[in-house]
Formats: sequence, structure tokens, C-alpha cells
Amino acid sequence: MRSVSIKELLTGKELLQEITVNGWVRTFRSNRFIALNDGSTLNNIQCVVDFEKLDDAILRQVNTGAALKITGTLVESQGKGQKVEIQVRDIFVHGGADPEVYPIQPKKHSLEFLREKAHLRVRTNTFSAVMRVRSALAFAIHQYFRENGFYYFHAPIITGSDAEGAGEMFRVTTLDEKNPPLKEDGTVNFKEDFFGKETNLTVSGQLEAEAYAMALGKVYTFGPTFRAENSNTSRHLAEFWMIEPEMAFYDLDANMDLAEDFIKYVLSYVLEHCEEDLQFLENRLLDEEKTKPQAERSEMALIEKLKFITDNNFKRVTYTEAIEILRNSKPNKKKKFQYHIDEWGADLQSEHERYLVEQHFKCPVILFDYPAKIKAFYMRLNEDGKTVRAMDILFPGIGEIVGGSQREERLEVLKEKMAALDIPEEELWWYLDLRKFGTAVHSGFGLGFERLVLFATGMGNIRDVIPFPRTPQNAEF
Ligand code: 4AD
Ligand code: MG
Repeated sequence: MRSVSIKELLTGKELLQEITVNGWVRTFRSNRFIALNDGSTLNNIQCVVDFEKLDDAILRQVNTGAALKITGTLVESQGKGQKVEIQVRDIFVHGGADPEVYPIQPKKHSLEFLREKAHLRVRTNTFSAVMRVRSALAFAIHQYFRENGFYYFHAPIITGSDAEGAGEMFRVTTLDEKNPPLKEDGTVNFKEDFFGKETNLTVSGQLEAEAYAMALGKVYTFGPTFRAENSNTSRHLAEFWMIEPEMAFYDLDANMDLAEDFIKYVLSYVLEHCEEDLQFLENRLLDEEKTKPQAERSEMALIEKLKFITDNNFKRVTYTEAIEILRNSKPNKKKKFQYHIDEWGADLQSEHERYLVEQHFKCPVILFDYPAKIKAFYMRLNEDGKTVRAMDILFPGIGEIVGGSQREERLEVLKEKMAALDIPEEELWWYLDLRKFGTAVHSGFGLGFERLVLFATGMGNIRDVIPFPRTPQNAEF
């Protein structure tokens, strides 16, 4: 007999049929009610056992976490909170879960505790909801680009170039087979180079995406990227997924239009397709907020907040205007900025970004035309000679979610910028080629996928929206 998913069962199967489901036990109450979950939905199916008819040895294995195959009849439920339930005829135990040692018990576990159990935490409601929303967002991203004439481009993971010029790279080396793997002092022998050249894990697929945009027109990457920055925050990972569209013949305005439209599309998609999970995550947040003082609670609940984003325009402000606002601001009566911005040219700290978004404009903000000195070498220099056509999108509760720019397409200007930053031309000869042969205005941006998932799910820590987080502290899994 073909087994059905619990989602199918709960959304209209004919009653009184004999059915088979597979799943994991969430709870087993009163030796009678099994709540079974199979990941297809947040909801469990209640399976009612007549313990006198079932083998005791089998029932003893029905513990939280056990994997079961249940066969029985689908009937109308007498209990509250569910329409249907299964009258159990037979149970097959795929695998038990010893309650003495299985760590995920039917009680509230803290997110910190669950982080130590990254391989099992997805068996909880919170993590399964987050991961279903994450999957839906990934699907929506591909769908958006497909509908808008983009090609999916696969950037290399191992690369010789430092796309951001920030030196935050993981080096890729190989063990040196010619020499013994271990030196006398116990340290490991590495070959100096790979492919005869120093190589790293990519920090961004942008430079390679530019090459492809200059032939295919509109492309996007969606893959893992790596940053060896030692920042231990709730917004940074050493391995994160980035979406990077790159478009020939787009200037900065067109780039900003695309980024805004894209974010609204994918958030609308989850509003439409993940209602149950979002409602659960919203209730979870509301519960959490009850423990906070009134002033620290958010003004909007999760779903309302997502709708607010999809229904309102982002505010576009130049860096220079933002500095004026920050200079004249008083964050609130008691608190001052830790770093007050007095000088044009200073980089914004996350407290400034959050002030602009959460207190001043109270909506997402696109900051553009940044000082050239605080941005990467590839951004297009403005006529003023001191700002570049950069844009960052700042989100409430998150800070920077997107970083992008119009690219410097003029060979001579690009060479000058690289020289000023001591970037050798030999290192990026192929990138300079793109400016020698058929160069054109082009633009793109990078969206941090986990920051988007953070926003969509209302979770507070980036470690809780990626299956196996890599941070300086955590690479156990
Ligand atoms: O601003 P970033 O560094 O921009 C780039 O890499 C460009 N090459 C993108 C482009 O124009 N194609 O990174 C882009 C986004 C950030 O806005 C942020 O959302 C995310 O990537 N991000 C991180 N997310 C998690 N952990 C980290 N350590 C991140 N660093 C950047
Ligand atoms: Mg950035």
C-alpha cells in the first residue's frame, strides 16, 4: 500500500479508508494517542491506539523520536483541534529512540541548547518551520529570475581572486605528498599553492558573474560563499549563501528597482505559500515578547511586518543625506550613539543603519552613492570623483541585507582605482579584459540569503536559519 503524507491526509482524504503513514513520534499520551509528524506539515496526525489489541513489546518502543509506519483507518476525530485521526490497526517500528538518551523531548528547549544538536533540531516545530520557509524562499528566488529572463550561473567556489578586496579569505591548499605529511614538530606540511597559484574559497561570485552578464545579458548566482572574518555576531556566518544577480546595460537606478522588486516578490511568495509556518513563527515570537518590557516589543507582528514590506516603497537616500540626518539626530533621550558620525567619509556602524531604518524612516532604506574610500574597487566612480555608485539595502531588525553597485566599466578608471589600492593588474587580467572588449554599463548586487531567512521567519540569530552553521566557534557538525 502506498503511504500518504500527513499534509495530504489533513487536507481532504476520504474518510473510512485504510491508509498507511510513516513519520516520527512527537508524543505518546495515555498509552493511547500518538502524535505523528513526517515533516510535510507543521501539524501532527493523531493516531489512536487500542492497546489491548497491540503487542506490548511494540508499544514500549513508541517513544518520542521513534520512526513508525502506521496502518489504520482514517476517521473523523472526536478530539479538539483536528478534523481527522487514524484508528490504528498496525504499527511497524522502523527505529526506536531511547527516552533515556534522546535529547529532543516534548518540552520547550532553548535555541542555544538546540544549536548543540544541529542534527536533530529540525525535528522541532520551530526549526522545521524555519527550514520549510527557507526552502520556499530558495524556490521563489529561482522562480523570480526565471520569470524575468535571467540565466542561473554557477560561479566557481575555488578562486584565485579576492572579489571584495577585503582579505577575508579561507586559503585552499593540498597536503604535500612528496614530503611526509607531518613535520618533525608535529605540524602539517602543506603545498604552497594549488593549480600553481594561491587559491581561496570564494567570498563572492560577482566578478565571474560580470563576465557572464557581458554575454548572456542577465545572470544570477545562488550558492555558498565564505568569509574568514572573525566576527561573532548574530548576523555573520563564515559560510553563507548569497544570491548575486548581474545585469548588462543596467545602471544603478535600474539595479535598485530590480532589488526592491525581487525582495518584495520572494516575501510575497512565502506569505502566500507558507501561511501555516509563518503563523506558528509569529505566535512563537509573540510568546517570547511577553517576557520583554513593553518598550522593547516590536510594533508589528511577523506577518503584518512582511506585508508592510511588500506593500510599501523602500526609501532611497544618498550617503551624504544619511550623514546629515545622523549628525542632527538624537537616537533617544538616554541613549547616545556609541560612535557619533561627525565626518563625511566615515563608515556607518550597524547602530547608525538601524537608527535610520527603525527610528528615522521606519521602513527599508536604500543608501546609495557612498564615499569611494569605504567601498570595493570595482564600483563606478561618480563625476564628483569621491563617491561611487554603490547601494546597500538596510532592513529593520537586520541592518544590511543587500550590497550592490553599478560597476566601473571604463578601463582606465578601473586601472587607476586598482593601482591606488595596490591590486596588481596581473591578478585580474581577465577582469580587465571585460573592459577592453565590448565593455558596457552594468550592475548587480548580492543578497545574503540567511539574512533574508532571518527577516522572513523573525528569528533572532543567523545560526538558527541555516542547517549547520559555520562560525568561528562552531564547526562541530
Ligand atoms: O556587501 P557584500 O560583501 O557584497 C558583495 O559581496 C558583492 N560582491 C555583492 C555583489 O554586488 N554581487 O555582501 C553582500 C551581502 C550582504 O549585504 C549581506 O546580506 C551578506 O551578503 N553577507 C553576509 N551574510 C552572512 N554572513 C556574513 N559574514 C556576510 N557577509 C555578507
Ligand atoms: Mg556590504
